[in-house]
Amino acid sequence: MQTLTPYPHLLHGCDYNPEQWLDSPEILAQDIEYMKQAHINCVSVGIFAWAALEPHEGDYQLDWLANIINKLYANGIYTVLATPSGAKPVWMSHKYPEIRRVSADRIRDLQGGRHNHCYTSPVYREKVRAMNTKLAERFGTHPAVILWHISNEIQGECHCELCQAAFRDWLKERYGTLDALNAAWWTAFWSHTYTEWEQIESPSPRGETNIHGLNLDWKRFCTAQTRSFFENEIAPIKAVNPRIPVTMNLMGFYDGINYWEMAKSCDVISWDAYPTWHTNQDGDETYNAFWADAYSDICRSMLGKPFLLMENTPSQTNWHDVCRPKSWGFHRLSAISMLAHGADSIQYFQWRQSRGCSEKFHGAVMTHANRTDTRVFQEVSGVGAMLEKLDALAGAKTDAKIAILYDIESHWAVNDAKGPRNIGIGDNDLMLRMYLPFWKNGYAVDILNPEQDFSGYHLLVIPMLYLLHPDTAKRIRDYAKQGGTVVLTMHTGVVDAHDLCYMGTTPAEGLAELAGIRFLEIDPLYDKQYETMRIVKAPFPLAETYRLERLCERVAAEGAEVLGVYEHDNPCMPDGMPCLTRNSFGRGTAYYLGGFAEDSFFSDFLISLAEKLGIEPALDTTLPHGVVAASRQAADGTVFCFVMNWTREARSVNLPYPMKDYETGKIYQAKLPLAPYGAKILVRL
Ligand code: GAL
Repeated sequence: MQTLTPYPHLLHGCDYNPEQWLDSPEILAQDIEYMKQAHINCVSVGIFAWAALEPHEGDYQLDWLANIINKLYANGIYTVLATPSGAKPVWMSHKYPEIRRVSADRIRDLQGGRHNHCYTSPVYREKVRAMNTKLAERFGTHPAVILWHISNEIQGECHCELCQAAFRDWLKERYGTLDALNAAWWTAFWSHTYTEWEQIESPSPRGETNIHGLNLDWKRFCTAQTRSFFENEIAPIKAVNPRIPVTMNLMGFYDGINYWEMAKSCDVISWDAYPTWHTNQDGDETYNAFWADAYSDICRSMLGKPFLLMENTPSQTNWHDVCRPKSWGFHRLSAISMLAHGADSIQYFQWRQSRGCSEKFHGAVMTHANRTDTRVFQEVSGVGAMLEKLDALAGAKTDAKIAILYDIESHWAVNDAKGPRNIGIGDNDLMLRMYLPFWKNGYAVDILNPEQDFSGYHLLVIPMLYLLHPDTAKRIRDYAKQGGTVVLTMHTGVVDAHDLCYMGTTPAEGLAELAGIRFLEIDPLYDKQYETMRIVKAPFPLAETYRLERLCERVAAEGAEVLGVYEHDNPCMPDGMPCLTRNSFGRGTAYYLGGFAEDSFFSDFLISLAEKLGIEPALDTTLPHGVVAASRQAADGTVFCFVMNWTREARSVNLPYPMKDYETGKIYQAKLPLAPYGAKILVRL
């Protein structure tokens, strides 16, 4: 069994901030006792604790931390050790103003908040290196330390002079000459040609925002700079003990930096999941649940192995518009859903509510009431007890035969473009819309960056890959040639890596040939405007018509069979132009969808396609609305099947074969009853 950390079990843990309680030893002693009762087996310590670790410059105070780590370890609780760089101490901010970030409008921050240091500042890099060296020397080989948690939710960008200079160096390295840069950025437009490197500045609302190549390269630079900062953080840690893995906690669909680049420097991926539960009066959580599972699938796909759920709230946040606590029993359901999609841990923000400052009302395992007979404590403890019985799940794989391509650079570019739809092009929505039916019907999906290898999947779904690299296009074509099935959509293969439009036939780089079509024009719709797609040839059962919204791309069929056409109630528009096509290419098949279709189309189309390709869902049965299933396979061959009911009504699932409840041993022959918000972990008999 290959587990993510040296501790060969699922983790049940939390962010723990003992530095806020150093003058309350009775609280710290209680914490350990209560953690044991809650079946907590690890805690993340050190996050934001710089002021306690180095209260004055050069005055390192690590004994309190050693004390905590030792006591926890003596009680069977392991440490996820964080570096404190996510919050710089006040003394440092004041002594070295350069470490404070400068915003895009060129104003330097005052001291305050967190997650706001400059990634370029040599002073901050040196301070971080020195701190991490001290931490690594002291704790790097401590048997309690199972994982390094680098900083916290690494994010943002800085526009200071140091960053501007580093950006220019990065550009010189990338382009060599200004001529090459001017050409790549199309700067003859509006006389924005650069004649000296020093003229180049990061994008700013007060300055340049119209050069898309600049905007894209700035984001790439921010990612590169963040990654080199991250590498600077981990170098002293790895120098002491390379065997302890490092992670950074991701923030879901945050798009400030390219997480796939950051993942290259991580041993383990972790993320912080805070879905906005209980927004609907009817209590149906299906549509709140699926985006979180989609992001879990992204995390799992980044390194092709399980991930850690570094943070979720045991009850409520303090920052949603309305901070509803998870309702009774819901925590277990949300935890099981994370496990189902590849989590090897359930960790919380936070163990204990602080008494003061901005997170004092954020949910925690221990609230201000400071007692364990609360509902939340009992539910957390229940999840901990469950995880202890699931040892075999740690490291278990997800066997996905379907891949969806998702490229953050393409997302940046398509959302930076002016037109064709400035009220939301909907690339992420389209991706999720294409993911949804697989999720609902229990099909495992890997969501890959196009750089990743997709050659082994049975079905490749490519929603709106606006920015297309020639190499990606070649691999997509090769995949189809060798027998793969590809689904392409509108607004794909439009620009190159510099965000310059491809000339000639699009989708570019041979994808038009692959699909047997040619782009003609794109017709965006206002909200609440719709068009219709009429199915004229159904390769599998489909409805007669489907509603289209947002984007209607008309194409010419050049070799492809037309399966669906546009139908208008507008006499000025010709009916019958291709909207959905199919083309044979090599030994494979490519489908092309021009219109942004309603959910039911994707559900009918993609599930039929998966069935046709012989791809098996986690549970071969028709699941009632709100019930979803997913599976993972352990190294010993055990296939865990997770079934989740996201509704407030009891549900019953017809089982295709008898199954056993892994937790209780109870056997279900033909029917699986699920309580409201119930979830079960089953194995086949
Ligand atoms: C996360 C952050 C935590 C805490 C939490 C509150 O984004 O990493 O430190 O602030 O949000 O939900």
